[in-house]
Parts: sequence; C-alpha cells; structure tokens
Amino acid sequence: MIEVRPPGDKSISHRALLFAAVAGGLSRIRGLGDGEDVRSTARVVQGLGVDVELVDGPHGLDARIDPGDGPATPTHVLDCGNSGTTARLMAGLIVGLGLSARLDGDESLRARPMRRIVYPLQAMGARIEYLGAPDRLPFAISRRATGSLRTLKHRPRVASAQVKSAILMAGVLDGVAVEIREPGLSRDHTERLLAALGAPVRAEGPVVLFEPDGWDGRLDAIELDVPGDPSSAAFVTGAALLTGRPVGIRHVSGNPTRTGFLEVLRTMGADIERSHVATRCGEPVEDWVVRPPARLDPFDVGGDDIPALIDELPLLAALAARADGQSRIRNADELRVKESDRIRGLAENFTEIGVAATETEDGLVIEGGTAGLSGRVDPRGDHRIAMAFGVLGTAPDTDLRHADPDCAAVSYPRFWADLESFLE
Ligand code: S3P
Repeated sequence: MIEVRPPGDKSISHRALLFAAVAGGLSRIRGLGDGEDVRSTARVVQGLGVDVELVDGPHGLDARIDPGDGPATPTHVLDCGNSGTTARLMAGLIVGLGLSARLDGDESLRARPMRRIVYPLQAMGARIEYLGAPDRLPFAISRRATGSLRTLKHRPRVASAQVKSAILMAGVLDGVAVEIREPGLSRDHTERLLAALGAPVRAEGPVVLFEPDGWDGRLDAIELDVPGDPSSAAFVTGAALLTGRPVGIRHVSGNPTRTGFLEVLRTMGADIERSHVATRCGEPVEDWVVRPPARLDPFDVGGDDIPALIDELPLLAALAARADGQSRIRNADELRVKESDRIRGLAENFTEIGVAATETEDGLVIEGGTAGLSGRVDPRGDHRIAMAFGVLGTAPDTDLRHADPDCAAVSYPRFWADLESFLE
C-alpha cells in the first residue's frame, strides 16, 4: 500500500508560530508545514524582532522561537505573501499588542477582502487605515494613544476562522472579553491552542468566548509535533480514488472542523478507516486508510457542511468530474474570495479540458463521466486549483498539461512527487 505523511497542518503551523511569539518562554515546534505560506508567517514574526530559528527536520520545518522581550513595532512593511491567514491573524496580534505596523501581500492577497477583520478590530478601538483601495491590503495599523481595547460581541456574516481568530488574538493579548457568534462552526484551531496554552477561551457550539477574569495573561510556551494537514492529505486520497490504489495516511489532523471531506468521499463509495494516534495541544492526530470503490457515486454538498470542507471543494469538484452522474456544490460563495475565484477557475478549466460544468452564483454543477479529458490547465496562481487538476490528471484517459505547477508550493511543496507514487 502507498503510504504518505502529509506536511504539517498549515492552519495549526501559523497559529503555533504566532502564539509562540507572545508566549512566556522558549517554544519548540516540530514538523511545521514547509510551504510558502507558513514561511511568510515565520518571516513576519521575525519582522517583529522575535527570534525564530527554522531548520529542515524529518517531517517538515522545526522551529525554535524565543520571544525575548516580546514583539516590537517593525521597521519595515510586513509582507504576508500569498497568505490570508498570516495577514488577518497578524492584524489581530498587532492590535492586541498595541503596536504599529503596515501589512501587505502579493497581487492575489491584495485582491481579497479585509473589512471582515478591519471592521471588528476598529470596533474594539484599533486605528487602521487602508493605504490603497478600501477593504484591501495594504493597510496601516497605528499604535493606540492610551487605554485598552473595548470588549466586543461580534456576529460575523460568514463562518470564518480567520475573522474569529483575529478578534480572539486581539482580545486575548489585550486582556479584554470577546464573544464571537458564527453562522456556522469554522475551524477551531485557535480556540484549541489558546486553551491548551492556558487562556480562558471556551466554545459553545458556534459561539466562542474569551473571559479574562482571574487570568494572569500568560500563555505557556509551546512544545508541539504539528499534526499533518488534512487539506493536503485530501489530494492524496483523491489520487487513491482516481487510480484505484489504496493509501495509508500517517499522522494527520483528525479535527472534525477540517475533515468534512471524508464524509463526501464515503458518499462517493470510499472505504475509510480512521484510528486515533494521539492528542497534541488539544488537536486529535490520526492515521487513515482509504480504499477506493470500483466506481465513484456523485454527491451534493451545501449548507452547514461547507465550513468543514471549504478548502477541499476544488479537489471534490475534480473527483466529481469522474463520478457516475451529476454532482452539486451549493452555498460555497466564500470560494470566490480565496486565493483566486475558485468557482470561476474550476468552471473555466473544466470547460477547457472537456468536463461539462456549470458555474452558479454560489457553487458548481458538474457532470461526471469517463470520457477522455485533455487540454491545458491554468490554475491562475492558486495552489489548490493546481493540485485539484493534478489529481484529476491521474485518472485513466486524461491528458492534462499544467501551467505553473510550482504554485502548489504555497501549501504542499512535495505534492507532485507524492502524486507520482500513484502512477508508478
Ligand atoms: C484558514 C481559514 C479558512 C481557510 C484558509 C485557512 C485558517 O479561511 O479557507 O485556507 O487557517 O484560519 P476563512 O477563515 O476565510 O474561512
């Protein structure tokens, strides 16, 4: 059986680096994701004067983080690269610490909405000014004149872990109570990690509360082996389904706010065994065995199921193109504001290679089948679109050429090598 250990989870890696920067001692984190996004967070944390040593370890990047006297106002613009999580969580951290900073990103990140975090942070008392277009990077955060932030009860319009986390970072670091009531449960890594480090953060369904009364404000230093990234593992399971080869996935996060795609794979006919291996900083670590069915059934996803599989929708769409019938993705309008407009990018590339797919306002309708597919895929710089079509290219009777395969390195630098093992 093919065995794959995915890179360290990207969402957990960002958070571990950010919390280590403000923790009360030296942190050691092993197996961080080695993609460009995690490196962006490490670089931005270094920009605040925090000592971050990164070395290549056996399972990704190993980091030693010494906060010293704590983060300080940076002397240069903090470049968040392609990473929305870096920009949005870092904004919360800077506001919570009462520092000044300018944040910016690459062309894709400059096109993504920022008001969703700027508005609640301003409501807490932050001073943030857009330096270019409204609602977009770059923006400048200015040091508060005096006093602490205001408490906040926020009801975001979308379920977004980045919004929730930015508000939590600000509240926790300044010691003011916050409550976030989401329309659905987004990934909960921030809550889990903060609670594991000693902060009084608790969740009641989609409501997260930070109540500082009686807490000394100190976060413990971090000792962590980062669980593998289920979003990267998803592409590997997809290759298993399309090539008919079982796969073992080792040391992967089994966090239920991330593993919704496994239920869709089951609907498609896959046999999936999950075994619990450990719990690390409140995060479940699992091993999986995924056995492909003889033929793939179509699926219909939408509603409350979307947040727990939002990043896996490009991959699921690619699998739908090889299913026996029509699949639907609904209520996924957030896909339009990811690293690219993923609904448009999927639809246009499907048309290009011969898959019958229709774009809707908030999703896609995809006609599956086994007819030959060929043509050139252009992911428009979006790592998950590139990898989704990379996986589709492992199916029989496909002849896909990939423009810009290297953009997969944003989250999964070893992706194409791991995919090769299914074709040997
Ligand atoms: C992430 C949250 C999600 C997800 C992104 C990573 C995070 O975005 O799509 O890839 O680490 O918090 P939103 O919070 O915008 O939904």
